Amino acid sequence: MKIEACIFDLDGVIVDTARYHYKAWQKIATDLGFDFTEEMNETLKGISRYDSLTQLLKFGQIQKSHEEKLELCKVKNDIYLDSLSEMDESAILPGVTKFLTELDNANIKIALGSASKNAIKVLDLIGIKDSFGVIIDGNGVTKSKPDPEVFLIGAERLKVSPQKTIVFEDSDKGLDAAIAGGFITVGIGNDENLGKADYVMPGFENVSFDHLLSVLPL
Ligand code: BG6
Ligand code: MG
Repeated sequence: MKIEACIFDLDGVIVDTARYHYKAWQKIATDLGFDFTEEMNETLKGISRYDSLTQLLKFGQIQKSHEEKLELCKVKNDIYLDSLSEMDESAILPGVTKFLTELDNANIKIALGSASKNAIKVLDLIGIKDSFGVIIDGNGVTKSKPDPEVFLIGAERLKVSPQKTIVFEDSDKGLDAAIAGGFITVGIGNDENLGKADYVMPGFENVSFDHLLSVLPL
C-alpha cells in the first residue's frame, strides 16, 4: 500500500502544549476543591474544551449549569493562553521539523487534525503553519474525537483515502477517531496508553519516514 498523506494531531504531537492544557485543568480542579491527576488527564487528551470540562466535573462529582460551564471553559482557556505567551519555535517537539521536511520532499501530503480552537494561534507562534497543506481544527468540526470527523474532513480536503493516510496521535480518543475513520495509526507516547495504534513511538526524534514505512503493517 502506498502512503499518500499524513495527518497530525497538534497538542502533544507537534508541539509541547499537552502539559499546559493539563496544568490549566489542574488549576480549575484545585479551585473547585479536588486533585486532578495525570491519569485523569489522559482521558481528557484529544477532546474538546467543553467535553474536557464535563469529564473533569465528573471526576470531582460536581454539577454545573451550561452557563457556569461556559464560564469555566473561558477561565481555563485564559490560563492556557497565558502559558503560551512566551511560546516560540523551541516548543516544537524534537524531530518534528525534520520529519515534516522529509515528507514534503517525498511529496506526501500533510494536514493538521486538531480538536483545539487555538490551533492556528499555536502554529503561528511556533512558525510552522505553512508546513500544513490543510488545517482542520476545533472550529471546523461539529463532533469531537473519538468521532472520526476531523480526520475524515482532512482526508477529503487532501483528496486522499484514509487507507493511504497515516494519522499521528498522542491521545486514546484521537486514536479511536482515526481507527473509526479507517486510517493507519501511529501513537506518539507509550504502549501502555496507546497500544491500540498500528505502531507506537515516543516521538519523532531519529525517526525517518522510510523507517516508519518499514515497521507499519501496510
Ligand atoms: C486537544 C487537546 O488538542 O485540544 C485537549 O488534546 C484540548 O487537551 C483540546 O482540550 C481543545 O483545545 P482548546 O485549545 O480549544 O481548548
Ligand atoms: Mg494531542
